[in-house]
Amino acid sequence: MEGRDLVRSMKAMGSAGAAQGLRTVRAAWRRRRVDAGGLVPRGAERARVPGPLQAVEPGPGGGVLRFSRSELRITVAVNGAVFWGWDGAAPEPSYALAGHCPEPDSRAVLEPDKDGGWRVVAERVTVVVSRHGAIEVLTPGGVMLRRDLPPRWWEPVDGGRARWMQRSEVAADARFFGLGGRASGPRLRDGTYRLWNTDPGRPFGPGDDPLYLTMPVQLVVADAATHLAFHDTSWDGTLTLREGEEGAGSGHDRNGMSELRMEGGPLRCWVMVGTPARVLLVWASLSGAPALPPTWALGHHHARWGFGSEQEVRRIVAGYQERDLPLDAIHLDIDHYDAHQVFTVDQERFPKLPQLAEDLRRDGIRLVSIVDPAVKAEPGNAVFDSGTAEDAFVRDASGRLVRGVVWPGEAAFPDFTHARVRQWWGRLYEERLAQGFSGFWHDMNEPTSFAAFGESTLPRSARHFLEGREGDHREAHNVYALCMARAAYEGLRELAPQERPFVFSRSGWAGIQRYGGTWSGDVATGWPGLRASLSLVMGLGLCGVPYSGPDIGGFDGDPSPELYLRWFQLGAYLPLFRTHASLRAGRREPWEFGAEVLEHARVALDERRRLLPYFVTLAHLARRTGAPYVRPLWWSAPEDRALRDCEDAFLLGDCLLVAPVLDPGADRWAVQLPRGRWYDTTTEKVYEGPAQVLLDAPLARIPVLARAGAVIPVRGDDGGLELEVWAPARGRTGGGLVVPDAGDGWDEPEIERYVARWEGRRVVVEREGEDGSSEPSHPVRIRGLGTG
Ligand code: GLC
Repeated sequence: MEGRDLVRSMKAMGSAGAAQGLRTVRAAWRRRRVDAGGLVPRGAERARVPGPLQAVEPGPGGGVLRFSRSELRITVAVNGAVFWGWDGAAPEPSYALAGHCPEPDSRAVLEPDKDGGWRVVAERVTVVVSRHGAIEVLTPGGVMLRRDLPPRWWEPVDGGRARWMQRSEVAADARFFGLGGRASGPRLRDGTYRLWNTDPGRPFGPGDDPLYLTMPVQLVVADAATHLAFHDTSWDGTLTLREGEEGAGSGHDRNGMSELRMEGGPLRCWVMVGTPARVLLVWASLSGAPALPPTWALGHHHARWGFGSEQEVRRIVAGYQERDLPLDAIHLDIDHYDAHQVFTVDQERFPKLPQLAEDLRRDGIRLVSIVDPAVKAEPGNAVFDSGTAEDAFVRDASGRLVRGVVWPGEAAFPDFTHARVRQWWGRLYEERLAQGFSGFWHDMNEPTSFAAFGESTLPRSARHFLEGREGDHREAHNVYALCMARAAYEGLRELAPQERPFVFSRSGWAGIQRYGGTWSGDVATGWPGLRASLSLVMGLGLCGVPYSGPDIGGFDGDPSPELYLRWFQLGAYLPLFRTHASLRAGRREPWEFGAEVLEHARVALDERRRLLPYFVTLAHLARRTGAPYVRPLWWSAPEDRALRDCEDAFLLGDCLLVAPVLDPGADRWAVQLPRGRWYDTTTEKVYEGPAQVLLDAPLARIPVLARAGAVIPVRGDDGGLELEVWAPARGRTGGGLVVPDAGDGWDEPEIERYVARWEGRRVVVEREGEDGSSEPSHPVRIRGLGTG
């Protein structure tokens, strides 16, 4: 195991492998030594449970319940979310919250319940606390959604940090989703999931867990309601899930179960209840509205590790242009750095980067730069010197610099949990802006340090500022990338205040959406990888992170033309639409897979460009409502159990249903339809849901259906906004929201509301305003008329 890790690290580092390998071994030894010196062994432990309830102190929105060995604070907030914290834990400080904790809902009061328990009755939820500290969350109608059993702590006999365990029950029919980016999902089946951001060190597939971006957010969908539970603790932990089972005939139901074990940190939880849309709205009001990507970032991106030179970048751009293929961004990976050092440029191979950026921008193409946190630890390296002067780098308990090994060799790591360090780091993007970059791709920020032994990150004993609270890497690890994203986002807002920043990050935690998106990391090339990449996007969306997408074609190896095309067709309907691959992988340009693939990829690219106004609308709606662009089929019908288990298709906003082909050799594809009328957008054939239908899926396209009545903003042939309206079923109405593109600044466009209805033999579309309805201000094209 250890040897394999070493070989992997050495291979990853290419030609300088042997020397780097030695440094890696040395770094790993140092890590062990540092941990041995910096972390106190735990020794004997004692278990604790809350014990019986002894006193109750009502307060605004809830109150405090004192048990013999712990106390519980419960508050219902004005946004309807319920908070509870044990052992005096309060909602703040928190890396997940977007600002201060919302005010308590003063209408919610703590009152006695039966059997010596107490309850808080709020508008949308009732919370009952038993006299031994079990907490039940019920719908207003009294149906149980979640029952947290009394927690259990284990504490060192001599005092110190407690580990804890929280077991919860959910309804027998409930399904679990969330936990950040998971490769096997989006429905999380029975198993144990770790909450520790991890670079798997090699391309991953559905069996690999955890990955780069984890978070203790569970979204639970059941007949009675949907709820989201967030345990606000950044420490390492595991969550074991077991789905329930409904008794057949006279058998008993078995509830679903979740068991969260945490190595430390406060035991505190937020729960929100309602429809999926409502739950995500409340979650966004707590953890922050998703940043709005600039419009160009909703187009097509092409990346590669190893373009190697300006000429090659120009050659690829010309390849797109000669073939008249849309391209909106080119990403430069670490090979454009000087000796792999972040915030530098290899002047030999990229001598005129600002010129290149300007030329591309003139053609409507933006440059995006990779940014890694590791700084080459070598005096004379300007970033290292300025970081040293700022005392910006992570140290160990004895005050020595913590060194790791990443692409530039021996490296130091900024402590992003310090506001001063974030400001220093944010200012470094000035150099990137001067080179002409418009967007930033944060990588290796779990943070990763190549390891020969054990884990590929910083030692757990490494010290972090944690906004003044001081602590170690066990607490800071999972929020490292979140704080790095904040540094970049805030820095860019100062450096380029007129433009919305574009940042996306491999790692992150609850709240990363405030600063930008993410991508799926190094997904393995193969059909399982294609499936995993969809699961990641859907799962992240349900955790409040709506902007993401995979490396189309997979990160490594050579996809078959068919696999590449199917991946490309899926990617065209995901928020981040990016081709990318490793240094040693085969090519990923659409023309490298033969004439047939090129023609079909062109269709996907053109369709993405045509749908750009719809993506702009979805981005605005995500920011205003927390609803992801990519939604599971059960989004508006969580009670439909057949949809709950359907993982290979998704809704893109309210209007479209996309059913990517995820297996080789298919030319027909089974699609589960939610209730209502749907049109195949290619043939305009009508289907009535709920149903399972078999649709044509030739290589040329994947099935995409439009909901009857949908109003979809699209780009017309002249480049202007047009409304594509799918005829409602006879006697029914339809409609939709449109948010026009207001550029890449901070203007707030108004939401336009449209209704579509039958008037005699015609479908009319009107814009609804405060003073009644009016003619739409954009051309309208009605589709699906031939079949109604
Ligand atoms: C990591 C990233 C990948 C990038 C590579 C080189 O593997 O996940 O996207 O190309 O590093 O920077």
